[in-house]
Amino acid sequence: MLLPDYFDPNAVAHDLFVDREEERRWFLQAIEGYLRLKDDRLGRAVCITGEKGVGKSILVGSVFHDIRERHSGDTLVVEVDCRNRRSAREVLVRVAQGVDEELRSLKASLQAVPEALIAAVGAIEEIARMTEVELKTAHERLSRFKSVVGLKGRRRLLGNIEAEGGVSFERSDTEIRSLTGKVSFDDARVVGLLCDLFDAIREQGYNVVLHLDNLDELRHEFLTDADRETVRRDIQRLLDLKQAPIALVLSMRLYFCGIVPREVSNRRILKRLGAAHLVEALERRLAREAPAVRAEVGEEPARLAIRSLADRATTALAFMTWFDYVARWEVLDPARLAPALDRFAESTYSVISLPVLRRLASVFTSPDEWVPKERVLEACQGNNAVFEQLFNRQAVLPRDFWHPTEFTLDPELFFLIQPVQGTEAGHAAPPDPS
Ligand SMILES: Nc1ncnc2c1ncn2[C@@H]1O[C@H](COP(=O)(O)OP(=O)(O)O)[C@@H](O)[C@H]1O
Ligand SMILES: [Mg+2]
Repeated sequence: MLLPDYFDPNAVAHDLFVDREEERRWFLQAIEGYLRLKDDRLGRAVCITGEKGVGKSILVGSVFHDIRERHSGDTLVVEVDCRNRRSAREVLVRVAQGVDEELRSLKASLQAVPEALIAAVGAIEEIARMTEVELKTAHERLSRFKSVVGLKGRRRLLGNIEAEGGVSFERSDTEIRSLTGKVSFDDARVVGLLCDLFDAIREQGYNVVLHLDNLDELRHEFLTDADRETVRRDIQRLLDLKQAPIALVLSMRLYFCGIVPREVSNRRILKRLGAAHLVEALERRLAREAPAVRAEVGEEPARLAIRSLADRATTALAFMTWFDYVARWEVLDPARLAPALDRFAESTYSVISLPVLRRLASVFTSPDEWVPKERVLEACQGNNAVFEQLFNRQAVLPRDFWHPTEFTLDPELFFLIQPVQGTEAGHAAPPDPS
């Protein structure tokens, strides 16, 4: 069989998007509603949730594509992926960087972006990179953003940069050299400065749309109270950005969204795509492949194998990932799928052996079942090291991150439980964790 050249199971390009017209409309309206607000001190928050791999990121990407097309003259669109960032601070640095890039590109497109505003974001980015430094060093590092003093309008931003940064842009070089003592910057201060910055940006007539993606993956540590407390603090800091006059888009897995406060009333839980839409999404991706590859996947047995994978998959990610694996091993054939998927499981969760995964799967009688932690431990035959690996490698996922007492299998492993009876109409909704 010929191999696809371009296929990427994680691709989220806007032109690959299928279905979800209703959700798209709702989401676009929520953002454009913010863009129309007359009061430039108001913002809004939107929360998109759903299970792992259901299609949150691609939905946001698709709507952001439209926002960029329609509002690029006056809107900054910033996207930050929290996955694999080590801390809230790292996310905040990325936010400042993203704003910086957007302001510069507006300027490059001949918009009258004040130099002082660009200096302000540079200063905040620099502050975000410091935790505790000598006062002298803070001054030196911030001095190149001196043009922030020219900032017009709401002066709070300049005042706060000076106050929080422990600096005064009026000091002479000699004064700076004689400074002693230290200054420290905590996350709350950086968030405060970013909120002031967004305020100043809005005052200049620009809007900001900020997406924090994969909030749940900033830290996937939930087994002890102490772990969860650290995560909670970090996330709450980031959620404080909703005080700013921006459209803040939060996306995270369903099990995590207990942390989102009630006042964020614009929320959607994405349901699963049906098998027919999964196949359509796959065809969209294969459009770029060589004609010979397309011809081959359109014929039996490949076509039947694809349909069989789509029937078993509950999430788009599971489907795309399985297809990728099976196609690369050249076993797109219904008769050869089962051993191929076993090999997929083995290679994906490498440190966890297939027998352990099978024992784990045997604890579940159906894919959407939740089981208590004790049963997961039993499947590990009481071995704590294995038990922890299952959580760290996300082979099992909690029902509620904040009260992790029950667990389900990663949807990419559902084929280990039993073949799911897929239908044209689609799959049942996942169980509601509330
Ligand atoms: N509506 C859709 N149309 C096309 N592809 C989709 C759709 N939903 C999900 N996918 C694909 O499934 C995979 C997982 O989607 P993603 O948006 O990354 O999920 P999530 O962010 O919910 O974990 C990606 O490859 C994505 O392109
Ligand atoms: Mg995502």
